[in-house]
Amino acid sequence: MRAEITELKTARSLERGKQFWETLTSMENNPRVKRLRDFTHHRFTSRLGHSHNVAVYSYYLARKWNWKVNVESLAVGAILHDYYHYNRKEDGIGGYTHISQHPKTALNNAQQDFNLNEKEKNIILSHMWPVPRSARPRCREAVLVCIADKYCAYQEGVNGNVDIEKIF
Ligand SMILES: [Fe+2]
Ligand SMILES: [Fe+2]
Repeated sequence: MRAEITELKTARSLERGKQFWETLTSMENNPRVKRLRDFTHHRFTSRLGHSHNVAVYSYYLARKWNWKVNVESLAVGAILHDYYHYNRKEDGIGGYTHISQHPKTALNNAQQDFNLNEKEKNIILSHMWPVPRSARPRCREAVLVCIADKYCAYQEGVNGNVDIEKIF
């Protein structure tokens, strides 16, 4: 009986993994999402590379902590969390304005191009929490992306990138 339960858990975990990677790959192959490759992010990575790192690290944390999450929403929200198309310095946008406003910009842009559910909207809007304090993560998926974004930003800024494929 115990072996059957373990087998069932393993099968479910594999199925969730398949759903996550399929959703992430399909989003990354979308031509609109691919445009994020054209923007440098955290000095050494592209915005698409950073978003990929955040998605994969969020999923890694969900598995490590055994959190039950909607893996499709996790992949969609994470890959779109920085879905904006400007270079802050080139466009003369102030640091605080950018930090506090870009989640809203990303959400507006993403809603124009994709049909998002409430979890995905919250992931994008709250990923910079506690800035602003009112935009709180309200689901597990958003908490994971909020943490993963800070970890990846630090690694990318200091070490040049996150060795993301090696964490599994
Ligand atoms: Fe961001
Ligand atoms: Fe980010």
